[in-house]
Amino acid sequence: MDKHIILLGFMAVGKSTVGRILASRLDLPFVDTDAEIEKAEGRTIAKIFHESGEAYFRKLEHNYLKQLQHMPKSVIATGGGMPCSRQNIELINKNGHSIHLKLGAVNITSRLVNDKGRPLVIGKSRAEILKLVKNKLKERNPYYCKGNISVMAYKKPAEVADRILERIKRVAK
Ligand code: S3P
Repeated sequence: MDKHIILLGFMAVGKSTVGRILASRLDLPFVDTDAEIEKAEGRTIAKIFHESGEAYFRKLEHNYLKQLQHMPKSVIATGGGMPCSRQNIELINKNGHSIHLKLGAVNITSRLVNDKGRPLVIGKSRAEILKLVKNKLKERNPYYCKGNISVMAYKKPAEVADRILERIKRVAK
């Protein structure tokens, strides 16, 4: 593989689960950007949002992407908001084969109800989450759509990984 494999998409579409499977099939390290940011900061994403604000978290995400070129080739699962600026999606596509995992708003919402780790949805009702998901998808889809490959993520994670591998073989060396 000549570049990283970078998974993009909304919260809860399965980026980390599918990413781990892909990494083991390709014999590459697996990296989760949220986990890396938590490790570097010594606190959870929820705490970072609460104590330092979302804008600070977005700066950490951007700084993380700037190091991509120096990292060993990996399968990387990004946080849902990470690709959503022109600079960030450009860094992603320069350093990796980007794969957009897609799910509909209702499905995403069902996966996010009662989530305790994601600050954008903590404490919100199903109706509030659905509204947030729809609004954010509208805002974020133009960035997600810049992914090199787009795959529906309804099937089991192993099947989604198979589909990605088939598609990647056609574009990656
Ligand atoms: C976020 C998604 C989360 C995490 C943070 C913000 C977002 O990652 O980065 O809670 O803005 O969509 P996952 O996509 O892994 O849930």
